[in-house]
Amino acid sequence: IADVKEEIDHELVSRAQIDAKIHEMAAQVSQDYRDKNPLVVAVLKGAVNTLVEFTEALSIPVQIDFMSLSSYGSGTESTGTVTVRQDLSADVRGRHILIVEDIIDSGRTLAWLVDELKRRGAASVEVFALLNKPSRREVDVEVKYPGYEIPDEFVVGFGLDYDERYRNLESIAVLKPSVYQGEQA
Ligand code: PRP
Ligand code: MN
Ligand code: MG
Repeated sequence: IADVKEEIDHELVSRAQIDAKIHEMAAQVSQDYRDKNPLVVAVLKGAVNTLVEFTEALSIPVQIDFMSLSSYGSGTESTGTVTVRQDLSADVRGRHILIVEDIIDSGRTLAWLVDELKRRGAASVEVFALLNKPSRREVDVEVKYPGYEIPDEFVVGFGLDYDERYRNLESIAVLKPSVYQGEQA
């Protein structure tokens, strides 16, 4: 098996850029949520890397919980249906929720989650998403803490996968076309 770096076509967002954006948003969130006892909800699996760095950069104490959601199968296209693989352990009633996501593509995952948390009685629900692909949006979602806008390319790394692999890359990259073989976008 080749070194993972040999399968990268090009890097799209460097680790320095990732770090800068996460720290910028963490400073803003630390101000905005100072008196709110926020519950940070990370959307597994993709948001794991972002969550860790983001919460370490906060200057206020927060509670962290996880929800595992899936709408992509093994390919690069959304199935359009959000599946709950694992639910939160916390009760969100009356809580100020900050969702942490790695990427917004069609918007279906976030739109579903924001609605669901409000339905469960959250006092407020806001979103920090490291990456955003506005050109692919199908459902509108309001993002209070936006990260980088990226073009319509399938990206991996820093938590993002292709067919469950490449989440462990340290930065955001596009794979060589040969890696996506068998599927044509
Ligand atoms: C990916 C990504 C977001 C979502 C964005 O998750 O991590 O959660 O898709 O796409 P959308 O805006 O079109 O809904 P995925 O379903 O691949 O699960 P994963 O996080 O476990 O990889
Ligand atoms: Mn995800
Ligand atoms: Mg995925």
